[in-house]
Amino acid sequence: MRKPKIISPLPGPQAKATIQRDQFYLSPSYTRSYPLVIEKGEGSWVTDVDKNQFLDFTAGIAVNATGHSHPKVLRAIEKQSQNFIHMSGTDFYYSVQVDLAERLASVFPGMGPKKVFFANSGTESIEAAIKLARYHTGRPAIIAFWNAFHGRTLGALSLTASKSVQRNRFLPLVPEIYHTNFPDPRNCPTNMSAEAYASQCVENIREQIFHKILNPKQVAAIVVEPIQGEGGYIVPPKNFHAELQALCHEHDILYIVDEIQSGFGRTGKFFACEHFGVEPDIITCAKGIASGLPLGAMISRAEIMNWPPGAHASTFGGNPVACAAANTTFDLVQTQYMANAQKQGEFLKTGLKELKQEFAVIRDVRGLGLMLAFEIEKKEQKYPSHFFDHEITLRDQIIEEAFLAGLLLLPCGQNAVRLSPALNIHQEECEVALAIIKKVLKKI
Ligand SMILES: Cc1ncc(COP(=O)(O)O)c(C=O)c1O
Repeated sequence: MRKPKIISPLPGPQAKATIQRDQFYLSPSYTRSYPLVIEKGEGSWVTDVDKNQFLDFTAGIAVNATGHSHPKVLRAIEKQSQNFIHMSGTDFYYSVQVDLAERLASVFPGMGPKKVFFANSGTESIEAAIKLARYHTGRPAIIAFWNAFHGRTLGALSLTASKSVQRNRFLPLVPEIYHTNFPDPRNCPTNMSAEAYASQCVENIREQIFHKILNPKQVAAIVVEPIQGEGGYIVPPKNFHAELQALCHEHDILYIVDEIQSGFGRTGKFFACEHFGVEPDIITCAKGIASGLPLGAMISRAEIMNWPPGAHASTFGGNPVACAAANTTFDLVQTQYMANAQKQGEFLKTGLKELKQEFAVIRDVRGLGLMLAFEIEKKEQKYPSHFFDHEITLRDQIIEEAFLAGLLLLPCGQNAVRLSPALNIHQEECEVALAIIKKVLKKI
């Protein structure tokens, strides 16, 4: 069984040199949790510039769906690059883009034709969705949820309500955006069932927003993550999405589901919204779609995408090399890796639940498929960091210690650690990850 191999102090001398140059030249707005300087990735393994080997449970923030540099994805990229790298799919035609649109349309929940707009990233897919919703409905307002993360460009940022640092000094944002409560089961009152709480959150939109501040005829869309991602991998109660969709239908409001983090097989279904039995009007995706090449997609029921030529476009969106990588990623995910995500997700979740029994510091284990998180007890106390001048939380200490032991993890929400490995992760790799997490919990 392959295990992480740490042969230098972390960061090692080569890593230190790169980080020093990075600090001189790169934007200080980036959020690095620890000093990993990658040289090579292969499957779920990463080698850094000092030849340390790490097990990657981040997949580049839930992006490398097929692992690092999957040979079939590499072949698709090479073949397409030899033909042509760019021609702008908004001005010319090429089949690799149509092939991908056809694939995406085939998995969009619900009957009837679908249409796809291609972008380069998650935030751009959201921008496209906001614009289409306004265009199609002729209405100005959009409703989103507290703790949501939809991206950082000004339109998407207007929907994001995750951390104030993401908005601070960027005001004013897009007007007519309203936020409301997402049914986070942790906030469910003790005298109420989770389902009743979810219904109440939907009812709040009617009572707090529609009755008091906004005629629903002014609302173009409600935008929601099926499972909140950056907000902490929060899975809402089963009935939430269907009730939200019903509210949207009642008022001809578009129900837009942001599958940028949860989609493309990560939760064991192609789109996470399928777990809730809903059929969105618009779905946004990005991240895992092209195994690491930049690509985003906004997919809608065909009749919604009724904007004319020139209304929206993008020079690079739907880049042929990214589309070729996405077509291969799609086929691998659909035929093999989605089922693996389900299987390994269950294995990991069981392992994490066992750790929760053993370590009181774990307060919750949640998620679906390979979109998993464990919540760490919130403490006022702060701890010294191995890498930063400032003190860190207990959760961040766990992430630092895991890194030192050769396991790459990332935070999400206020106190959670996320596990978002490649969808083709092996069970032995999950066993190694669980063993390292256990070792770290024992140590702290
Ligand atoms: C649910 C969700 N929406 C949108 C985004 C923004 O995607 P990007 O960083 O590609 O712009 C993210 C990124 O984490 C996300 O998780």
